[in-house]
Amino acid sequence: MSGTYNYTVVRQFAVMTIVWGLVGMLVGVVIAAQLTWPALNFDVPWLSYGRLRPLHTNAVIFAFGGSALFATSYYVVQRTCHVRLFGDRLAAFTFWGWQTVIVLAAVTLPLGITQGKEYAELEWPIDLLIAVVWIAYAVVFIGTIARRRVRHIYVANWFFAAFILAVALLHVVNSAVIPVGLWKSYPLYAGVQDAMVQWWYGHNAVGFFLTAGFLGIMYYFVPKQAGRPIYSYRLSVVHFWSLVFTYMWAGPHHLHYTALPDWAQSLGMVMSVILLAPSWGGMINGIMTLSGAWEKLRTDPVLRFLIVSVSFYGMATFEGPMMSIKTVNALSHYTDWTIGHVHSGALGWVAFVSIGAMYYLVPRLFGRELHSLKLVEVHFWISTVGIVLYITSMWVAGIMQGLMWRAVNDDGTLTYSFIESVEAMHPFYIIRFLGGALFLAGMAVMAWNLWKSVRGARTSEAAIPAPAH
Ligand code: HEM
Ligand code: HEM
Repeated sequence: MSGTYNYTVVRQFAVMTIVWGLVGMLVGVVIAAQLTWPALNFDVPWLSYGRLRPLHTNAVIFAFGGSALFATSYYVVQRTCHVRLFGDRLAAFTFWGWQTVIVLAAVTLPLGITQGKEYAELEWPIDLLIAVVWIAYAVVFIGTIARRRVRHIYVANWFFAAFILAVALLHVVNSAVIPVGLWKSYPLYAGVQDAMVQWWYGHNAVGFFLTAGFLGIMYYFVPKQAGRPIYSYRLSVVHFWSLVFTYMWAGPHHLHYTALPDWAQSLGMVMSVILLAPSWGGMINGIMTLSGAWEKLRTDPVLRFLIVSVSFYGMATFEGPMMSIKTVNALSHYTDWTIGHVHSGALGWVAFVSIGAMYYLVPRLFGRELHSLKLVEVHFWISTVGIVLYITSMWVAGIMQGLMWRAVNDDGTLTYSFIESVEAMHPFYIIRFLGGALFLAGMAVMAWNLWKSVRGARTSEAAIPAPAH
């Protein structure tokens, strides 16, 4: 076995991508329902919205997204470096370690154990485990690159490596706390410094976890599925360096009109607007890979998932810079517009590109044919309608909230009470719930289709390729 690629760990992470995708999105649908019909928390503390919301974000970002990134990065680095993964045992440790982190999160968050920092809620003992697993991940990934059999390091690996290194840095700095008990700690930073460190982390979690890693997926799977080389290798190098440089400075756009010094807010805004350029460079590179082969979109729903994901990436990275402009943010902040933006990135980009990669990977990893292309087509349309319902309802709701909150009468009093704005949201929350439910149904179709594929007849041993050397 030592001569062939290590697909065991890739398979394990691929399976868990589907499982955690279903779980995390189910919790998303539950909290969407709770926002619409608040009685659905049944007065049970661990079913309350405040506890399930971080469970949703952690499950979709770190369990679903994280497993997809582990699976694809381990696959891509072996295929493009023509060498088996470094350290079989260490790789197995990253799988079991990461699953342990997820299970601990799923237990502690509903119990109300939290640091209260968004996307960094988990308490210090779990943070320590994350750090250890992440270092092991870095060793496996970079160790594999170090013993590659080809001189060149393919660009997807650059993005995966940047994602791994940046997340290590972000996690260690933002998790610096003073423990006062097994499940309680206080941050090392205070006041506005704490807020700035948190949003330097938070924004770069978007930039490196939800973007750079998934760009690694784009750079491998789009050319593979399209059967064409990447549009411009030179553009991908410019894309890489400009993106990793610019993201680091954009965090303050999460803290507009707060106690953060004004110059820092403006710097964050300017860097966010600049970020449009590298983001669109990457999007153009992904989409133009199809030039001369556009007709494939008509017949290949897997490619459609991948290309539509890159289009959503372009949309979210246009919307983000706009929302970071202070005057726009004065309207959008605290409203559902942000939630719409998040999910056009999360569902349209992160989930779609992962889904495309899973349809490519799973049959190959198990040496089987894809059970039904027709069902992929069904999945594509259900989930696309789901996303459109989700994000358009949130845009309308968000702008309506922003406008209602700032409306004043001639005598200077507020035109609407807060509860009136909450009431006005009800129809939009129903639409978002339906959109989310459709997206989840699409995930269930994928799970069934891939299950049937794995249970189908083995195609040939050749479907599990051997290394080139
Ligand atoms: C050029 C790229 C982008 C820029 C400049 C940007 C900018 C912004 C801005 C200004 C906000 C609102 C901050 C606030 O008012 O609180 C925001 C929120 C957010 N964005 Fe983006 N965005 C970009 C791309 C993306 C992408 C691709 C995703 C992927 C999923 C994403 C995920 C998020 C998330 C999760 C939040 C919510 C953060 C929170 O919890 O408050 N963004 N973004
Ligand atoms: C069936 C699919 C999904 C549904 C129904 C759903 C629903 C929700 C709901 C109801 C919220 C809370 C909104 C609020 O506080 O007003 C939320 C927040 C969030 N969701 Fe989802 N979600 C889904 C999928 C995803 C996926 C796949 C991701 C990431 C890959 C994601 C990332 C997030 C993030 C980052 C937030 C926090 C946003 C913020 O604080 O600004 N969601 N989701």
